[in-house]
Amino acid sequence: MNAKILSSGHYLPKGTLTNDDLSKMVDTSDEWIRSRTGIGSRHMATDENTSDLAYHAAMDALNKGQIDPQSLDFIIVATITPDYVFPSVAAMLQKRLGMRQVYALDINAACTGFIYALENALGLFATGRYQRGLVIGAEVLTKIVDFTDRNTCVLFGDGAGAFVLEASDHPHFKAVDIHADGVVESLALEGYPLKENLLTPHGAWPFLQMQGKEVFRFAVDAVPKVIQNLLDQTGYTSEDIDAFVLHQANQRILDKAAKDFGIDSSKLVSTLEYTGNTSSASVPIAFGKALEQGMIKRGDKVVMVGFGGGLTWGGVLVEY
Ligand code: UT7
Repeated sequence: MNAKILSSGHYLPKGTLTNDDLSKMVDTSDEWIRSRTGIGSRHMATDENTSDLAYHAAMDALNKGQIDPQSLDFIIVATITPDYVFPSVAAMLQKRLGMRQVYALDINAACTGFIYALENALGLFATGRYQRGLVIGAEVLTKIVDFTDRNTCVLFGDGAGAFVLEASDHPHFKAVDIHADGVVESLALEGYPLKENLLTPHGAWPFLQMQGKEVFRFAVDAVPKVIQNLLDQTGYTSEDIDAFVLHQANQRILDKAAKDFGIDSSKLVSTLEYTGNTSSASVPIAFGKALEQGMIKRGDKVVMVGFGGGLTWGGVLVEY
């Protein structure tokens, strides 16, 4: 049993943070940020948490597909910025969306989270016990970003995206390629220290830490490999693919992949200019924006790729 994307939705909180805003907070400039990353501004949640963004993205997908939440058999949320350590955002949304008391699970695979969540959904459909489900990527990264660190604070933004998937005999998901390699120091957010450390004050609330250059090198190597693996699994060439929805981390990473495969810019989705990097939300947001712009139509073959903390990386090739 395979799956079909019935509908997709997304949500960006109203607040924005421009490069000029950031240049008043740290030693940076609009010119540096744009030329090194392609980012012009990013959305920022002020009074909404991750579950709120996820809720609005899910409702957008349900409304667009005219889908009754009672018809859903599972909900999976990919996030590294949940409201609570537990319960999961997925469990919170099960009630808020008015779903039946069904399977609800959060997944943490950092910026590859949405791809991992799609693969998990495919696994659920393969059991034959699930017919329809929600897969969401949602982040309020501005909660975990150090706004005194110019190396990271200019990169990240908040947002959420969602797919409603349904079991299908037709193999819409034609290839999946997923990986992980435990390299903690490249990109991390510290969690709880060992218990004895709690006996002494352990300083400030931890923030996201990143060795940008290392992650950049990893990404420009990993992304083309994933795309090639997806093409090899299917026998397609890059010309057969109608749209490439890659994790929105840096325009230079997107451009490198485009150059490697000779991808025309009209097929390369980029939201970086106004979203920045929204981690596990970036792929479904970019997918939704591409639908709105007519870059993706029913029947199109779409490659989606994520990469990030873990390190993790992976992709899917789907016929929409
Ligand atoms: O979603 C998870 C995956 N994450 C990523 O994919 C991020 C991957 N990494 C990147 O996108 C890039 O490495 C960055 C955008 C983070 C940095 O770009 P870079 O071209 O690798 O710059 P760099 O780190 O080599 O820094 C170059 C210079 C340094 O100054 P010096 O040492 O040459 O004097 C930095 O201190 O730029 C400086 N710099 C800045 N200057 C102005 C670093 N951040 C800033 C800034 N504004 N915001």
